[in-house]
Amino acid sequence: MEVKLELHNSLQGEIEVPGDKSISHRAVMLGSIAEGTTEISNFLDAKDPWSTVNCMRSLGVEIDGEGSNLRVHGVGLQGLTEPQDVLDAGNSGTTIRLISGILAGQDFHSVITGDNSLRRRPMGRIAQPLKEMGAKIDGRNGGNLAPLSIRGGSLKGIEYQLKVASAQVKSAILLAGLFAQGETVITEPGNSRDHTERMLTGMGYPLKKEGRTVTLQGGHSLKGLKIRVPGDFSSAAFFMVAASIVEGSDLTIKGVGLNPTRTGLLKVLKEMGAEIKVANERLSGGEPVADLMVKGSKLRAVEVGGDIIPTMIDEIPVLAVAAAVAEGKTVIRDAAELKVKESNRISTIAQELAKMGADIKELSDGLEISGGRKLKGTVCHSHDDHRIAMALAVASLVAEGETVITSWDSVEISFPGFLDLLKKCLAVQ
Ligand code: S3P
Repeated sequence: MEVKLELHNSLQGEIEVPGDKSISHRAVMLGSIAEGTTEISNFLDAKDPWSTVNCMRSLGVEIDGEGSNLRVHGVGLQGLTEPQDVLDAGNSGTTIRLISGILAGQDFHSVITGDNSLRRRPMGRIAQPLKEMGAKIDGRNGGNLAPLSIRGGSLKGIEYQLKVASAQVKSAILLAGLFAQGETVITEPGNSRDHTERMLTGMGYPLKKEGRTVTLQGGHSLKGLKIRVPGDFSSAAFFMVAASIVEGSDLTIKGVGLNPTRTGLLKVLKEMGAEIKVANERLSGGEPVADLMVKGSKLRAVEVGGDIIPTMIDEIPVLAVAAAVAEGKTVIRDAAELKVKESNRISTIAQELAKMGADIKELSDGLEISGGRKLKGTVCHSHDDHRIAMALAVASLVAEGETVITSWDSVEISFPGFLDLLKKCLAVQ
């Protein structure tokens, strides 16, 4: 499927974005291995989180409800059962990596795989520490690529230094640590998102966090919880950039999760001169939430790199769009992780924005963008990557003529209602 979009007037009104993807996955996984029921509201009703629901069901967990309200009937740490078939994580890196951590702790055999994109993404980063803990894991390419075959059980805690700041790797080890004997200690080089730690704590599991080190002991239990999932900052990001770059916009995005390990883009956009106000700050299910009021403004270039990158890793494609519009040369560095996402996002966003007339250069670990050139509508490709598709839709709003985005269906992965919501903001004048 393809969509056609055109240069537009401002974005106006009040919107809400769907529930956070990372938190939706974790609510289902942790709810499954907790004791008692976990009631989830504002669950992200999109393809990726449903991959997690289907995998947990195949492991014997009863999950009922539909849309964005689910009830997970936890089976406790010892209650999962051997799946009868191969588990399918679809397009979802979070599903395959975190569930592998859980499978590493199970005294049975399982195989987990995913779609063409996921089967190209590196799994050695989780397989290696999980093997050190005692699991038997194999896969294609010497165990680095899915399908992964896992025979778990009898784990022991380890001390592990992550090589990259990755919440998926950290969480896989933490989840395996729940089933391990003794202490699991993880230190990461940068601050990746901490939703797993927050939810474990919320479910009553003792855990210690000192600087960039997390420690837990195996063998305690989790208690089911009522969780209202906050709006996804990564989904709000497309609207934050759209309203910032389209002149005259005045948009309020309500109930957005503002966990400090996720909000790098907010800081960077403000540094670029964006007019974004944070109002009505509150806590929801152990996570900070607020409303964002965004007005159209003139943006200037920025240099980003280092510690802030893990807190905005999923937002870099749409930051590249803001940079293409901003005055001056933007440089983004230390973001080599983008190469192993749903697509190689350094090259896919550079390729597609260049087609629209942007002056954008690929670096080995980021991008260099000389902003201010007028963008022109053309035929662009999503590369089957949901965040590339939506970043291009944002760019189309300031491009002359018609932009066609092919393979649009990938948006179903994280934000099925994106186009309708965008059209709604563009219709209010
Ligand atoms: C996620 C962690 C990040 C992020 C992904 C979701 C998570 O991946 O890019 O979209 O839910 O833990 P990495 O852990 O590979 O950085």
